Amino acid sequence: MIAPSILSADFARLAEEMAAVRGADWLHVDVMDAHFVPNLTLGLPVVESLRKATDIPLDCHLMIEDPDRWAVGYAEAGAHNVTIHAEAVRDPRAVARDLRAAGAKAGLSLKPGTPLDPWVEVLRDYDTLLIMSVEPGFGGQKFIPDVLDKVRTARRLVDTGHLKVIIEIDGGINADTIDQAAEAGVDCFVAGSAVYNTDDPAAAVAALRERASA
Ligand code: DX5
Ligand code: ZN
Repeated sequence: MIAPSILSADFARLAEEMAAVRGADWLHVDVMDAHFVPNLTLGLPVVESLRKATDIPLDCHLMIEDPDRWAVGYAEAGAHNVTIHAEAVRDPRAVARDLRAAGAKAGLSLKPGTPLDPWVEVLRDYDTLLIMSVEPGFGGQKFIPDVLDKVRTARRLVDTGHLKVIIEIDGGINADTIDQAAEAGVDCFVAGSAVYNTDDPAAAVAALRERASA
């Protein structure tokens, strides 16, 4: 699956920018609060409007403090998937339960330096695992290959039936890095600048899809 990140889109033309990637599996929406990460993007009212303006399932990535309080609102706003950060959550099981009860998939994200091991048990309650391959906060950063070990471990746990999560990777994914991520076992690739900083975002999505399945 390919999930273009609208972080690199033109925020004054979001409806058109979403239409420009028709055929994408998910649309990745980066919510930042200027506290959990040193950047500020958009919140619930914008997600509610995006939901009405596209049929592509919204994959909301909450880079915010206190997801225990805010996450369920994104599920109620119609997000397909709501991902919170392990480093910020207090009661991950309760959040997963609330998200699912509100009709969304529950996602858990790990920053590059956060190990997978301590989260494996908790991940049994989750539908997706988002492995960050850059420090969260900004688009256009360089892919950190060290995180591929975490991807391989997660892949093994899924393949042996110990976990049932979609493995997602986010940060620095482009035509040069997607092969290694695919080889390590990623199911869903988030790409911002590699899609939107081009003349033809739809073609960029198609090219990434092709490379990932090569
Ligand atoms: C970064 C965000 C990413 C960002 C990726 O904190 O979580 O989703 O949009 O951008 P690229 O693909 O340019 O690294
Ligand atoms: Zn993201």
